[in-house]
Amino acid sequence: MNVATSIGKVDYDGLIPNNVGLGEDVRVKRALEKWHPGYIDWWKDMGPEGFQESLVYLRTAVSVDPKGWAKFDYVKMPDYKWGILLAPQAEGRTIPFGAHAGEPAWQEVPGEYRAMLRRLIVIQGDTEPASVEQQRHLGKTAPSLYDMRNLFQVNVEEGRHLWAMVYLLQKYFGTDGREEAEALLQRRSGDADSPRMLGAFNEKTPDWLSFFMFTYFTDRDGKMQLEALAQSGFDPLSRTCRFMLTEEAHHMFVGETGVTRVIQRTCEAMKEAGIADPFDIARVRKLGVIDLPTIQKKANLHFSLTLDLFGNEISTNAANAFHAGLKGRYRENRLDDDHRLEQSTYPVLRLIDGHIQNENAPALSALNMRLRDDYVNDANVGVGRWNKVIESFGIPFEIKLPHVAFNRHIGEFAKIKADTGGTVLSDPDWARRRSEFLPNDADRDFIESLMQPQYEPGKFASWIAPPKVGIDNRPGEFEYVKIA
Ligand SMILES: [Fe+2]
Ligand SMILES: [Fe+2]
Repeated sequence: MNVATSIGKVDYDGLIPNNVGLGEDVRVKRALEKWHPGYIDWWKDMGPEGFQESLVYLRTAVSVDPKGWAKFDYVKMPDYKWGILLAPQAEGRTIPFGAHAGEPAWQEVPGEYRAMLRRLIVIQGDTEPASVEQQRHLGKTAPSLYDMRNLFQVNVEEGRHLWAMVYLLQKYFGTDGREEAEALLQRRSGDADSPRMLGAFNEKTPDWLSFFMFTYFTDRDGKMQLEALAQSGFDPLSRTCRFMLTEEAHHMFVGETGVTRVIQRTCEAMKEAGIADPFDIARVRKLGVIDLPTIQKKANLHFSLTLDLFGNEISTNAANAFHAGLKGRYRENRLDDDHRLEQSTYPVLRLIDGHIQNENAPALSALNMRLRDDYVNDANVGVGRWNKVIESFGIPFEIKLPHVAFNRHIGEFAKIKADTGGTVLSDPDWARRRSEFLPNDADRDFIESLMQPQYEPGKFASWIAPPKVGIDNRPGEFEYVKIA
């Protein structure tokens, strides 16, 4: 089996902390130093609005040792050390799947797959700054300093993920890599002329429940994509993604615990007020908490937008990337088959004569579908934990992920309207019933009315419970952000 070599030493002295030997790589070092001012300009323009001078208690990656890779300290975000950190090279690593399975992993870009590889890196890279842009207004309505700090932590790490992808572009793709690195700073989430590349990354994140849903559902798509790219036969990409996954776990933690705390507070308030019916929305809202049916609608929205990120169920691009050995399956190394998939099939949910049903497709073409299935399973785990909280209060309500055909804009189900149970609806029925499933203006107005900042250390807004433990084991009243 693969034996990890010693963990690359992190050089913290230069402008760009790294464990890739940048000091000896003059060409790439210069290219990144040239890119750096544009990045800082982007961060100041499009990063967290109004808090650039504040001191934030952030973790910074200082090593890639799984036993202790982060240090916590106060830092102004523009001074954050955005480093380039790759997981250690595994000696003798081979390409785990596809037509080249078993051959030594590539340390340089395989010429025949250059364009495909660059495209994969650019698409991943584009999502990272996009989410920072989407979340840039949220500091102003943070429900606590604890939450504000978590938001900024996610934001600086998405910034580091952009660095991670830009390093690959600058190091391995010459002039076109440099152009792509520039373009990553030019596109803007939601911009009419120059939007981000993927739909969900051009939506708004208008409030904190959206933020928690986004980090739960959409950062989890990030996890799935990174897991698939961590399998890549192009070793530098694999190593980069493996380390990014360590950080990504915290983003989903923020999402899962955020939604849990919202649910917890709602249930507590209902119990205190003696409200047993979760659908007594007007009375629940009077308590200054978010009713469970509205939380369900937000989940419906963010889950369905995220499913679109997996692309078409049947996809030649996905087949080509796998065949080439560039993008694998979720935890490819734990799967027990030939890792080539040329002869196998996979059941794909399709729309056949207006009915939603499974149909076997060539496994190679069905890789997006397969990754999406893995995603849905993974997303369901945390939903189960949310329901445990509701159940512990004896409230008859269960959060359910909607059917995969619900509210889709890409793939098999983009051409139909379906309810959350997967029943196909006529256009008029959809129009009439839409706000049963998705937040309507009144829901949005209500949530917006709750978004009042709470900046006092240890205090929380009315609609969210405090966390069980602090970040870095800090006590409840800890001042996670010193607002300047
Ligand atoms: Fe990321
Ligand atoms: Fe993330």
